[in-house]
Amino acid sequence: MNFTQEVISWYHLHKRDLPWRKTRDPYLIWLSEVILQQTRVDQGMPYYYRFSEKYPTVADFAAATEDEILKMWQGLGYYSRGRNMHHTAGLVMRTHGGIFPGSYQALIGLKGIGEYTAAAISSFAENEKRAVVDGNVFRVLSRYFNIDTPINSTAGKKTFTRLANELIDPRYPALYNQAIMEFGALQCRPKPECPTCPLRPGCLAYQLGKTADLPVKDKK
Ligand code: ADE
Repeated sequence: MNFTQEVISWYHLHKRDLPWRKTRDPYLIWLSEVILQQTRVDQGMPYYYRFSEKYPTVADFAAATEDEILKMWQGLGYYSRGRNMHHTAGLVMRTHGGIFPGSYQALIGLKGIGEYTAAAISSFAENEKRAVVDGNVFRVLSRYFNIDTPINSTAGKKTFTRLANELIDPRYPALYNQAIMEFGALQCRPKPECPTCPLRPGCLAYQLGKTADLPVKDKK
């Protein structure tokens, strides 16, 4: 089995049951992805439930005041995320007729939505073939393919993004994206679980004894 199919079959066996994986509503996926940008799943989960219950649509979110949003955000930190979301919700009401966009092209450039978030929303909501590249993906790919280009360099971002887009399963982009992130979160962790890893036979870093040295990050 190749890398892509190995990751997907690992995912079928080990995935967590997470609420935002049960929806294809781009608004709810946006909510979850922004919360999870700098926040761990266990910490972000109660916030996702509170926000999605209080503001089930982007219209509800936009109708709240910024103060209300920031009060709900309390404890998550990085409050610019909440402010950007409120701004974007208002913009979606005024310029998208209240329909939260699901396509990468429409999403990219909205306040608070960068390449990662646009790829996540467009793949999960619409199955667009856009590979997500986050910290989990950098870690998995750098190890499996033994790539020591710094992940925070321009060359590194380009290399990993190109590779991720080559590896994405064209039939199941959303599934592949969830799978590689989950694999990085649970198996190929910063301290990796190699003894139980089904991808070990193909993993170059494992063969070379380099898992602890990858990914490489440049001091800034
Ligand atoms: N972290 C960021 N996005 C995630 C997702 N969709 N599932 C689990 N963890 C995530």
